[in-house]
Amino acid sequence: MKKQFVLFVAVIFALAMASSAYAAKAECPQPRKTAKAPSSDFKKDKTKKANKANGKKLFQKTAKPLACAQCHGKKGDGTGKLGAAFKSPKAPRNFTCKATMKKVSAGQMFWIIKNGSKNQPAMVAHKKLKDKEIWDIVKYIREDFMK
Ligand code: HEC
Repeated sequence: MKKQFVLFVAVIFALAMASSAYAAKAECPQPRKTAKAPSSDFKKDKTKKANKANGKKLFQKTAKPLACAQCHGKKGDGTGKLGAAFKSPKAPRNFTCKATMKKVSAGQMFWIIKNGSKNQPAMVAHKKLKDKEIWDIVKYIREDFMK
């Protein structure tokens, strides 16, 4: 009986250790080597008329090939399950980190989402998203994670 209990505690402890080792920590300031969009793209911003609710749905669940949250995390802090596989400075962007995100315009975000990042091919070009849908996502990220 006693032995079983000790074993039970040991198993719980091991599981807790494993899950804490697994959970990535949000990094801030986050080193960033992402290429800069051409200046006309960098300055574009069509978030004003974009649909934030649709952006949220795409980010959290439906974007193809993968929902953004898988890497960028549900809270947008770069700690998604798949994101943990990538190490800084090629880790998924932590949108909640002001120190890093202050250099990243809406147009820059649109450009990388559409064309992908040369620095980190895991951030793929999202060819299946329409421009309108990308602006919806950019609006969601900027208003809910970067405030
Ligand atoms: C497979 C993991 C993965 C998925 C899925 C993913 N990203 Fe990324 N994303 C990354 C990584 C890694 C980076 C860092 C790129 C770099 O180092 O240049 C990044 C960078 C970015 C950036 C930063 C651009 C900049 O200039 O700093 C934006 C914006 C972004 N992702 C948006 C998205 C959106 C929106 C989606 C969903 C449509 C998405 N990502 C899906 C991994 C991912």
